[in-house]
Amino acid sequence: MVASTPSKKLFSVTLRVWRQANPDQPGKFVDYPAHNVSPDMSFLELLDVVNDGLTVSPEEPIAFAHDCREGICGTCSCTINGKPHGPGKGVATCQVYMRSFQAGDVIVVEPFRATAFPIIKDLVTERSAFDKIQQAGGFISARTGAAPDANAILVSKAAADLAMDAAACIGCGACVAACKNASAMLFVAAKVSHLGLMPQGQPERDRRVLAMVQTMDEAGFGNCTNQYECSAVCPKNITHDFIARLNRDYVGALFRSELQSVSTSAGGGA
Ligand code: FES
Repeated sequence: MVASTPSKKLFSVTLRVWRQANPDQPGKFVDYPAHNVSPDMSFLELLDVVNDGLTVSPEEPIAFAHDCREGICGTCSCTINGKPHGPGKGVATCQVYMRSFQAGDVIVVEPFRATAFPIIKDLVTERSAFDKIQQAGGFISARTGAAPDANAILVSKAAADLAMDAAACIGCGACVAACKNASAMLFVAAKVSHLGLMPQGQPERDRRVLAMVQTMDEAGFGNCTNQYECSAVCPKNITHDFIARLNRDYVGALFRSELQSVSTSAGGGA
């Protein structure tokens, strides 16, 4: 006897979506009923279906950002029912499935809220502040054209594992959106750590952390006050322990740079 697959029960929900035509207009929540919702639909597929309906109506489709739809690119950033990336742990918005919701639910969808992430339209925010932080120090200088043997520089398993954990950051900005201070410390900590833990990242280690923290401050992100909301919503489960590592790196780099400027000025006066 062949076991039959249980039929999936379709259901209805209401999407309460933040609509804002552009950064200069005030926004508001608008309700959109969605029927025949399959529990196997992803949340972004539901937005696609609602948008299909809106394309044949006088209203504009809902603007939302997405790219890979498999939790890799960090583009699909919105807050669902008050939580960046919505229900679930360790998943991005594109990995949220409608089975996480109940028939009749009113699902509130809004953009990430932070001064450093201004709203462009509806659910789309401008997150180039993260790019600027990356450009300030998220790289290593390496000679190209003469790659050394991969085994010439030994890396301990512990350091490699930790660096990989930090490198999992997809730069989505959920950490900022979840933090009451709109702090980007978890993002910066991950980017500083994944290079700082590797031998290849040592030459620029001090310069990197000083430049990235300065750029973070200039972009208008707040400070960390140890609430740990950032790691609670991170789709890659990046732990706030990396923030402690960032602080240690930063203080050490600041001390060495002060020491250097004192010895330079002392040498100059001799
Ligand atoms: S669309 Fe790429 S992480 Fe969601």
